[in-house]
Amino acid sequence: MSLEQCKILDLPKIHDPRGNLTFVESSRHIPFEIKRVYYLYDVPGGETRGGHAHKNLQQFIISMSGSFDVVLDDGFAKKTVNLNRSYKGLYLPSMTWRDLVNFSSGSVLMVLASEYYDEADYYRDYDEFVAAVKSGVK
Ligand code: TYD
Repeated sequence: MSLEQCKILDLPKIHDPRGNLTFVESSRHIPFEIKRVYYLYDVPGGETRGGHAHKNLQQFIISMSGSFDVVLDDGFAKKTVNLNRSYKGLYLPSMTWRDLVNFSSGSVLMVLASEYYDEADYYRDYDEFVAAVKSGVK
């Protein structure tokens, strides 16, 4: 997938002096049906995660607290996106390599995913991912 398809999307934000509220509706605010939600927490400051791509999975990543950078790579080019607001998220189509870096300590990251967990959907080897992108064979 090309990097132009990786997009920051704004979510609804209900301002309230008692605390703001944001919500996400499946297939409405993000372009897929949500089958799974997972989150990263207790991440030590400066830690790195990710380091993989998915054959079919689409994801939407939200920083619930703190800040981190997502380094995106479609096999041809790279781009870095910072996430640090709970009312914005990053849409990741399939076949996008991502490294999650520069976590501020105490960051909480939530991921909405289009499929159930399936290890067979992962590319964990970067060269294998690039070969698949260039050959068009997943
Ligand atoms: P991984 O996707 O590599 O984490 P990250 O991209 O955040 O660095 O997953 C880490 C481990 O957790 C790996 O052993 C697979 C397991 N896991 C599940 O069992 N279910 C899940 O939904 C996810 C996302 C991971």
